[in-house]
Formats: sequence, C-alpha cells, structure tokens
Amino acid sequence: MAKILTGIQSTGTPHLGNILGAIIPAIKMANESNEESYLFIANMHSLTQIKDKKTLNDNTFATAATWLAFDLDPKKSCFYRQSDVPEVTELAWYLSCFFPYQRLKLAHSFKDKAENLKDINSGLFSYPMLMSADILIYDANIVPVGKDQLQHLEMTRDVAARFNNLMGETFIIPEAKIQDDSNYVTGTDGQKMSKSKGNTIDIFVDDKALKKQIMKIQTKSLSVDEAKDPNDCNVFKLYKIIASEDDVKNLSLRYTQGGLGYGEAKEILYSEIINKYAENRKKFFELMDDKQVVEDLLIDGAKKARVQAQKVLKRVRANVGY
Ligand code: ADP
Ligand code: TRP
Repeated sequence: MAKILTGIQSTGTPHLGNILGAIIPAIKMANESNEESYLFIANMHSLTQIKDKKTLNDNTFATAATWLAFDLDPKKSCFYRQSDVPEVTELAWYLSCFFPYQRLKLAHSFKDKAENLKDINSGLFSYPMLMSADILIYDANIVPVGKDQLQHLEMTRDVAARFNNLMGETFIIPEAKIQDDSNYVTGTDGQKMSKSKGNTIDIFVDDKALKKQIMKIQTKSLSVDEAKDPNDCNVFKLYKIIASEDDVKNLSLRYTQGGLGYGEAKEILYSEIINKYAENRKKFFELMDDKQVVEDLLIDGAKKARVQAQKVLKRVRANVGY
C-alpha cells in the first residue's frame, strides 16, 4: 500500500524529455498503485521564475493538458493545482521554522539557479520547504522524481523527522523513487534535453514546427553511402526510446549497412513521433481549446486534495499548540 505523489513545475509546455522521463512513469505508477495518488501542477513553484499572469496561467493549463493527454485518470489520482490548496503554504511556514538556514543554503538547485537566473528571490531560496509541504501534507509514501530532486527529498525527510522529534509523531517520512537517469532523453544537440538548453523536442506544436525541431538534430557529416554507427547518432538515440523493438532493429541495420542518410533518418523519426503520439497530440489540442474541461477537473481534484490536506494540517496545528 503506497500513496504516490509527484508534481511538475509549470514553467512551460512539457517537452518529450519531461513526458518520457517524468509524466508517463508517474502515471504508470499511479495506475498500478491500489491507493489514491496525488499528481499535481506546481504552479506556485513556477512563480519563483515567472512574473506574468498570462504566462503562468497558460503554462498551468499546458502542463495539466499534458498530464491528461497521456491518460492520467482523475478518478484514480487526485489531480490538482498547487495554488488551489492554500493549506500547503501554511504548512511550508511551519516547516521552515524547523529547518536550519545553513542547510537550506547548501541546496544545489538554489546554488545553480542563483548562478544562472537574474531574479534571485527568497522564494527560490525556500523552494525546498514548499516542496516538502507539498509532500508531507498528503502523507505521501513514494515520490517519483528525477535525480536532480533527490536533495529536495532528503530535506523533506529531514524536516519531517525534526518536526516529529520535537513536536511528536506528525508526519509520514516519504521515500524518493528515482527515475533511472542513465537513459535520459537526449535533446537536439545530444545533451540531456532541457528547457534551459534550448534543445527540446516539443510534441505539442504543429507538424511544421515539430519537423523543424527534428531537422535541427545535430549529426555527423557522413555521406549517404557510408556505414554509420547507430548508437553514435542523436537521431537514432531518440528513435530507440520511442519505436518498437523490431523497428529499432531494422533501422539499426540500415545504419550499419550504409545507404541511409541523416535526412532520411530524421524523416523516419518524425513519422514515428507523429504516429506514436497522434492520439495524445489530438487530445492535448482539444483540451487547450476547451479549457473549461481542464478547469473543472482541477477544481474537483483540489476539493479532494484539500480534505486530506486539512486532516494533516489539523494534526500539525494541534502538535504546535495552535
Ligand atoms: P527542464 O530541465 O526542461 O527544466 P525540469 O527540470 O523541469 O525540466 O524537469 C521536470 C521533470 O522531467 C523532472 O522529473 C526531470 O527529471 C524530468 N526530465 C527533465 N528532462 C529530462 C530528460 N531529458 N530526460 C528524462 N527526464 C527528464
Ligand atoms: N521541484 C520539482 C521539479 O522541479 C517539482 C515539484 C514541486 C515536486 N513539488 C513537488 C516534485 C513535490 C515532487 C513532489 O521537478
């Protein structure tokens, strides 16, 4: 019996790396769990970076529509927007009073962001406490996250234990479930696909824009006739994750035999993406055209989430003496 919880920060429309590395695995885990799971959009975390109302809102819907386009079942999982559960921010305050400032200063993600962003606000600094509250307020057991979030999970466990020690048993100590980082999705430049690197493949754009991104994938400069090593090709690396085993074998053979140009390989990858994600793309565009459907689901999810959040917050307030 395990309660699964994970959130995706809404800083844009999720790209193929986010979808394959985070969204699909989380939905799979949630569907396989026999307890209700919590899958949400961390739109208050994105306020640390985005200061425009429309962008914040558009990103929230695009992230929500992505979860739904990949068949998140709102009956199996509580699906909501972080900002619709104000209990989370109250808990974040309590937690921050139990966590040493010096420890927070050591957070890798804060250091990285402080080096790369112009707007280094204190929300960015206390980000891990809001994330801890996201998790602890639902008594979550398992939190699927990428490796980059492991330190945040350690802080969550630490602050929960400190609170329990000082104020009495209150929180369940959650465990991280790290997504295997060894096979991360590569971007158009062969590095890990990431919004900040501008190397993403975004499947939720029109066909022409999608094709343009695929044509941008960097390859070696070998002629059509030359034999090529498939595992040393950024186009093949993506194809391998997406296509069926047989199709991967066949394409691999064509690489090693020679006669396959990179242009053709890109066309093959493009067709594969278009075919494989046809239904998901259709669903995404339909949802973006009818945001009310998404809005209603999120409101409904938040109502359910708040019932649980209020239970845990009541425990916390009682143990603090409020
Ligand atoms: P980005 O690097 O584009 O800003 P985030 O850091 O917001 O992406 O990641 C959101 C989630 O998607 C995390 O769980 C992360 O592990 C996962 N993720 C991001 N990029 C990739 C990738 N290239 N391959 C696999 N998973 C990824
Ligand atoms: N910080 C996470 C990320 O950038 C998003 C997130 C916020 C989250 N709250 C969470 C993930 C709670 C898991 C659990 O990917």
